[in-house]
Amino acid sequence: MNFPLNWRVLSLSLLLVGGTALAADGTPKAAATAHSASMQQRPGHAAIASANFLATNAGLEVLAKGGNAFDAAIAVASTLSVVEPESSGIGGGFMAVLHRAKDGHDVFIDAREAAPAAVNRKDYINPDGSPNRDAALKGPLSAGIPGEPAGLVLIAKRYGRLPLQQSLAPAIRIARDGFQPDARLRGSIAAEQKTLERWPASVAKYLPNGKPPAEGVIWRDPDQARTWELIAAHGDDGFYHGETAQKLVAAVRAAGGNWTLADLASYQAKERTPITVNYHGYRIVTAPPPSSGGVAIAEILNILSGIDLTKMDQAQRVHYIVEAMRRAFRDHNDYLGDPDFVKMPLDMLLSPFYADGLRQGILPDKATPSSMLPRAEAPEPGMHTTHFSIIDADGNMAAVTSTVNYTMGSTFVAEGTGVLLNDEMDDFALVPNKPNVYGLLGSAANAPEPGKRMLSSMSPSIVIGADRTAVIGSPGGSTIITQVLEGILHFIDGESAQQIAAHKRFHHQYLPDEVMVEDGTFDPATSEALTKMGYTLKQRESWGFMNVVTWDRKTNKLDAASDPRRPSGLGKVQ
Ligand code: DON
Repeated sequence: MNFPLNWRVLSLSLLLVGGTALAADGTPKAAATAHSASMQQRPGHAAIASANFLATNAGLEVLAKGGNAFDAAIAVASTLSVVEPESSGIGGGFMAVLHRAKDGHDVFIDAREAAPAAVNRKDYINPDGSPNRDAALKGPLSAGIPGEPAGLVLIAKRYGRLPLQQSLAPAIRIARDGFQPDARLRGSIAAEQKTLERWPASVAKYLPNGKPPAEGVIWRDPDQARTWELIAAHGDDGFYHGETAQKLVAAVRAAGGNWTLADLASYQAKERTPITVNYHGYRIVTAPPPSSGGVAIAEILNILSGIDLTKMDQAQRVHYIVEAMRRAFRDHNDYLGDPDFVKMPLDMLLSPFYADGLRQGILPDKATPSSMLPRAEAPEPGMHTTHFSIIDADGNMAAVTSTVNYTMGSTFVAEGTGVLLNDEMDDFALVPNKPNVYGLLGSAANAPEPGKRMLSSMSPSIVIGADRTAVIGSPGGSTIITQVLEGILHFIDGESAQQIAAHKRFHHQYLPDEVMVEDGTFDPATSEALTKMGYTLKQRESWGFMNVVTWDRKTNKLDAASDPRRPSGLGKVQ
């Protein structure tokens, strides 16, 4: 982190040792105070918000057995793998920000997929030089080495209270006994039917009788149940070595992929230091590389911190936020990648002085065109990937965003494992200067290399103010970053969990140079004012599925909300 912010927080933390919590006064002082307060107080009850009611209930079940927020996170993630495989799961990866109440320890869990050692850019380029989008998005070549099992094992070992057998029990039970696939899962299978049909194990799992499961059928996944059981019994070895690893490698290679047993054996989930940024008295703890989310959110907040948004009309406010987004996404394209492979100028990108310079370049009444790179066309992403948020009765917090990337990942199931593989390789800059499925352009920093983790937009975040805390995140490809940013700003404006999850959204990612807007976000006068400033507004249908929990530490009230755009979500306080 940059020197000035750290120094302010550190010096104020020292002043506050043993001190009482002060009221928020809009300075970084309040943020340091808030952090101390969050360590001292307990909510006494718990809140979980996830995209699926079976997953939220699995988390609550594990809390009731004496688990903490981290055990509950394992239960929620593994259950989502069973009941919502189109979005995240055992064959994918996740990123999480955890806050441990007893000592205030914040940590980022990097369970991002990694490229296999035999990765070869040529596999993603057609003979005529055009990008091979099919190889990037479907089948075993599109899959990175999964991170989810290793990440959950790491969380259980270092942060959980219960053995994995207990925290994985709900997922194993649901996979064995069965559940009724909801409309979204049935729709995702139908949408991907053509590609699923290419792989016999995918057909066996998702297209019983050659068709997507019908409404009301009970659906079981004994192979996945067994794989989770092996993980429960043997930890990492249950997936990355032995029977499961052998089946995964055999299936991938038989279908034209290039994984080896060594790729699986060498995979490790990693603990990293989260990015922390102070904004208007709140401390935001968020995702570092290999996510681009935290860097972008910090850069945007640093730019906005020198502007009084509260005194502006909606068009002015949106103008400054969009200009900050534009600049952060340009840097995202140019600099960011896996920190174990690339040197990134993070001190610069996170510095308030750098943000000062960027802010000065924003014209008060005109859009700045993003003309430095060729325009990229971003298709509408299917809303897959999932985020859940948890606060337990001790004040532990987990913000977890988990994914198999695009709808149903690679659509490839490795026979005999119940593992649907991700298609995360498309998050690399596979072909120079060609956009990925989210319209993101990448540079050498995000080029594929053996063992490297592809850049992500996942931005699980915890926002800690003097009296209020939020755990927040969303799916949505590149729009994750801006949706989480807007959620953070709405929380700081005083909105409730429900209001934050429901709030209308907008997005700008440098290229394409347009503001993507949800219907109803701007009133006609704002749209007109923005158009006059030079913005191209483009309506977009699909927006993320935010799951937020908040804790008002003054009144000790917990709240949980799932995005109303998604009826199957469930936020619950217990
Ligand atoms: O890691 C990433 O940024 C993407 N693989 C996330 C994918 C996603 O959010 C899909 N949902 N729209």
